[in-house]
Amino acid sequence: MTSAVADAGRPSAEQRRRLSGPRSVGAASLFDRILPDAVVTAAATADDPAPEVSLGPGPEPGWLARAVPSRRAEFATTRRCAQRALSAFGLGHATVGRGSRGEPLWPEGFVGSLTHCHGYRAAAVARARSAAGIGIDVEPHSQLPTGVARLTASDAECRQLDRRCATDPQIHWRTVFFSAKEAIFKAWYPLTRCELRFREVVLSVAADGTFSGRILHPAADVMPTGDVISGTWLVMDELICTAVVVEPQSTAGSGVGPPPAIGPPVVSGRLSLSSDEPKSGPVAL
Ligand SMILES: CC(C)(COP(=O)(O)OP(=O)(O)OC[C@H]1O[C@@H](n2cnc3c(N)ncnc32)[C@H](O)[C@@H]1OP(=O)(O)O)[C@@H](O)C(=O)NCCC(=O)NCCS
Repeated sequence: MTSAVADAGRPSAEQRRRLSGPRSVGAASLFDRILPDAVVTAAATADDPAPEVSLGPGPEPGWLARAVPSRRAEFATTRRCAQRALSAFGLGHATVGRGSRGEPLWPEGFVGSLTHCHGYRAAAVARARSAAGIGIDVEPHSQLPTGVARLTASDAECRQLDRRCATDPQIHWRTVFFSAKEAIFKAWYPLTRCELRFREVVLSVAADGTFSGRILHPAADVMPTGDVISGTWLVMDELICTAVVVEPQSTAGSGVGPPPAIGPPVVSGRLSLSSDEPKSGPVAL
């Protein structure tokens, strides 16, 4: 891949097509659907047969060497998704390390996020001038285990969720809610280096596929967007996807643009949008 690609900024339609491996046709488009065009995603729906992965210079960390094969495979496949996404920016051989709190360490000048659940692994990457931070999360579209909702939501949030469940019972709202808070945390932590408890985010999830969290933590002062973090969500292929993009302080010319007009947040059946289909909206990476 030439540096002209990186200079021009926007990955071409052909590069976007290649981000999706043979078993991930359509899969990449889940997060593509809810992220702005400045963010490149890659996904896989099955693990690579060879679970080898490099986290950068130095020996493999002990925890990874001791990990069970399924965790190694999940880790390696997700890292390869990250490498595929980075390759769209001309970084074909970049490695994504792992920080002491588990956060991915991106090459200088880039931000991103990783997620995995049973049958799905994904990465989302953007230039740091386009986004200050990214958080993505995927969960099975199923009921949140008993008790988890109570631990992760306040009384007022639980009432909001009860109303949503009554109005639209086909959606597992509590899991959407939980996932949105996880996505917020993944964008938050690399920016602040602070923990964030579930009760320190007052979340509102809208039926139109958006959500907004007000952060009750002093470190919100350092967030480029202040104490509010917004995101988008989608239910598709039995999965819940949530995504957050924190815009840089000065959004003028950042090119991050709005998330795509996502339409109904619940889509049944297979995707009709292929990952090589260019997104609409402004792009200036
Ligand atoms: C870190 C955490 C959010 C991961 O979420 P998860 O649903 O368990 O797992 P996912 O598969 O979606 O994501 C895992 C990936 O998140 C990323 N991640 C882990 N810690 C991270 C951190 N501190 N910051 C950003 N990303 C992180 C990693 O890339 C990880 O994958 P890897 O270990 O294979 O590299 C979760 O384990 C956690 O610690 N939650 C408590 C904090 C929280 O969510 N607070 C909510 C505040 S509102």
